[in-house]
Amino acid sequence: MTHDGHIPYQMDHLDGEEVLQRAQSIFEHWSKRRSVRFFSDKEVSQEVIDHLIATAGTAPSGANKQPWTFCAVSDPHLKKQIRQAAEEEEKAFYSGRAPDTWLEDLATIGTDWEKPFLETAPWLIIVFKQVQDVQADGTVRKNYYVSESVGIACGLLIAAIHEAGLATLTHTPSPMNFLGEILGRPAHEKPFLLLPVGYVAEDATVPDIQRKDLDSIRSLYSPSKRH
Ligand SMILES: Cc1cc2nc3c(=O)[nH]c(=O)nc-3n(C[C@H](O)[C@H](O)[C@H](O)COP(=O)(O)O)c2cc1C
Repeated sequence: MTHDGHIPYQMDHLDGEEVLQRAQSIFEHWSKRRSVRFFSDKEVSQEVIDHLIATAGTAPSGANKQPWTFCAVSDPHLKKQIRQAAEEEEKAFYSGRAPDTWLEDLATIGTDWEKPFLETAPWLIIVFKQVQDVQADGTVRKNYYVSESVGIACGLLIAAIHEAGLATLTHTPSPMNFLGEILGRPAHEKPFLLLPVGYVAEDATVPDIQRKDLDSIRSLYSPSKRH
């Protein structure tokens, strides 16, 4: 099969038993991932962060537009500014802006307006989605499936962070336009997620919450099982 502009691509062909073993061990490993809100201030090198972001940049994207920018912040002054602005928004959120049902759902997780991890974690990665494709000469073109693409890239980033032995939190201060202002991002870039990255604090805790089991998230349509 030949297509103009294509190059050959091969993957190792594993047998079914090895694929099953890998699938099982991936699940066991990933079951241990948690969102962490208590970080150590132990240093993480820029080289590590660069590799993690490069991994996120391998994500698929609509029409290969790669509509993402990852801002890696370790400057303590900027982290402090981000924490202050985030806590201002969070205070308004927790003391009136959030609907009661949302606050009820958050009660089990135990979050509040205080976000010390925004200064403790050695790095903050702020992910921006590019709602338009603005080229170097100023030409503006469309981007496609931007949120889906950037969401997948963030999933890969979270995976890479976990695989590297570090921790993160998917943080979404609401609203988060202040991030574009503080970091001086252009208007076509909208803040998408904020991920503190670092080692887990020695005395860290996580909420005692449960994940849905396979039967409640998977609906099967195989020939042997009519639903
Ligand atoms: C899109 C998204 C936004 C989130 N926003 C926040 C947030 O702003 N603050 C926070 O503490 N956790 C936030 N979380 C983390 C969730 O609370 C967490 O993933 C969930 O409770 C499950 O816990 P686990 O990640 O440890 O499995 C967010 C998660 C997602 C996917």
